[in-house]
Amino acid sequence: MSGCQEGFVGVFDSGVGGISVLRSLVSELPHEDFRFFGDSANAPYGEKTVSQVLDLSRGIVEGFLADGAKAIVIACNTATSVAAAALRSAHPDVPIIGIEPALKPAARALPHGRILVMATEVTLRLDKYHELAEAWGGECEVIPVPCPGLAARIERGNLDAPDLREMIRGFVGDYSGHVDGVVLGCTHYPFVRRQIADIVGQDVRFFDGGAGTARQLRVRLVGAGLLADRDRSGRVEFASSLDTPAELELYRSFFDLSV
Ligand code: DGL
Repeated sequence: MSGCQEGFVGVFDSGVGGISVLRSLVSELPHEDFRFFGDSANAPYGEKTVSQVLDLSRGIVEGFLADGAKAIVIACNTATSVAAAALRSAHPDVPIIGIEPALKPAARALPHGRILVMATEVTLRLDKYHELAEAWGGECEVIPVPCPGLAARIERGNLDAPDLREMIRGFVGDYSGHVDGVVLGCTHYPFVRRQIADIVGQDVRFFDGGAGTARQLRVRLVGAGLLADRDRSGRVEFASSLDTPAELELYRSFFDLSV
């Protein structure tokens, strides 16, 4: 029985964004081993074509499986929208968990609210987002806010720099004081939650998919008999397609960041 619990959980994103999800995964499942892969050499995914994101996602997942992954978390809203269905049908025996903009919890918490959904252009264009807005938008006013360039800028760190604050102001400045909730529909954006709140208002509620994804991973591991033993401590490893010491140091600094 213990043999089926072996193996790591492969987690990937176009870059540092997925580390916001990784933090939730480690907190929910501290006994698991996680291997994080950031495709920073190919970021941002949100400005690539659907077929490019599909090919990149396939390559990463095949690499994880060749190395012995027991489950996969697509810690990227864009790659989930593009590739989750294809990856699941190619690997039906592997738990593959994706992430989607947390519109459902936002609409439940603010049933008549005005809710911004910040995400990449690709995420907001594809069917998955429109189905989500249709299913859960209800009586809310849901406003999609594509943020081209924001994930790529976050990749470069220095998150309190004036240029980054100005960029965020360009996307959400018009809603300052006129919004109830913000859905962070790209996994990079939780790292600038405070900077967004400084512009839209401190009483605005924020929602992201990290905790829900972590709970979903637990459910799938339990269901498949793959949960690690509780008497062990999990390990977290980082890898990047920009495989330099500086990039891996940047990943570790995002993992340790207080947000
Ligand atoms: N972090 C990703 C997401 O959740 C992608 C950002 C990007 O590479 O454009 O959508």
